[in-house]
Amino acid sequence: MWVLLLLLVPLSLLYRWYKDRYILENLTDKYVLITGCDSGFGNLLARKLDRRGLHVLAACLTDRGAEELKKQTSSRLQTVLLDVTDSNSVKSAVKWASQTVGDKGLWGLVNNAGISFPCAPNEWLTKEDFIKIVNVNLLGLVDVTINMLHLIRKARGRVVNIASVAGRITISGGGYCMSKYGVESFSDSLRREMRPFGVKVSIVEPGFFKTQLTNTDLIKQSLEKAWNNTTEEIRQSYGQEYFKKSCEASQTIVPLCKEDLSLVTDCLEHALTAVYPRTRYSAGWDAKLLFLPLSYFPTSLVDFVLGIANPKPAQGV
Ligand SMILES: *[C@@H]1O[C@H](CO)[C@@H](O)[C@H](O)[C@H]1NC(C)=O
Ligand SMILES: *[C@@H]1O[C@H](CO)[C@@H](O)[C@H](O)[C@H]1NC(C)=O
Ligand SMILES: *[C@@H]1O[C@H](CO)[C@@H](O)[C@H](O)[C@H]1NC(C)=O
Repeated sequence: MWVLLLLLVPLSLLYRWYKDRYILENLTDKYVLITGCDSGFGNLLARKLDRRGLHVLAACLTDRGAEELKKQTSSRLQTVLLDVTDSNSVKSAVKWASQTVGDKGLWGLVNNAGISFPCAPNEWLTKEDFIKIVNVNLLGLVDVTINMLHLIRKARGRVVNIASVAGRITISGGGYCMSKYGVESFSDSLRREMRPFGVKVSIVEPGFFKTQLTNTDLIKQSLEKAWNNTTEEIRQSYGQEYFKKSCEASQTIVPLCKEDLSLVTDCLEHALTAVYPRTRYSAGWDAKLLFLPLSYFPTSLVDFVLGIANPKPAQGV
């Protein structure tokens, strides 16, 4: 009995490895739109897919990001300016994409654009701070997706959403984790709705990577800005020491931040080019071995582990 069960693990891994190997033919016929190509995962994915001969439609937030990317890629790659929080910008990007892909439809939509600031303890933030992140990471993603879907259905294509381990386990206060929980939820319902149309939806959950989102100088700046803007009562309750230690604690993520962004883009590429894309991909050892396993443990244990690095407030008991 146990032997059988033990055999099941390697057999299922073998089966998955076998299924994972099938890659689609005719990739060079396909159009893929990626949001947030100015830097980070989106930028690297755009360059990689361009090299593989796909037609990349790279949506950038800034002119400068678009120009830099164009310099490094083939003439096949086209860029478009897109602010995912602006519905008019989304509408005009959809119109442009529709004209560009024509009858072929859009094979892939990669929702990558995202921000992580302001980040600070919840009480130091304002409602606007939460709105800012949720508008980009969640509502922007939803807006782009629902407006692009008719082009994706036409190609029986794929939607690939970049969520995070922070969408499976809440790591910090502020809008970031809740926005990623929202991305998980939206992706799950969309996957079920799209299945009958032959459209596949995948979620990629990276751990910590060295990008602008995890820049410790920016984290400290964000903490300081929120701290400066709280009330005198809050500053006294938490204490200057708490603030200082919070800034120092941001350094604890440094060893987790991997430089090799291709661990994430490999997952994105697989989701777009494999015959059998997976529903979920986790990228990075911290995601696979630390955060995802931890997310299945009882809340009391999770609270204990994540609380280890937390400083004690001045008026704490
Ligand atoms: C790939 O393209 C060729 C030529 O356009 C076509 O004959 C073939 O059926 C395509 N293969 C797939 C799997 O779509
Ligand atoms: C916060 O306040 C301090 C002291 O008033 C100031 O030096 C610092 O520049 C402020 N930081 C930010 C990010 O506003
Ligand atoms: C500072 O706090 C006030 C009131 O809570 C808020 O209206 C304002 O947007 C905040 N400013 C910053 C820079 O966070």
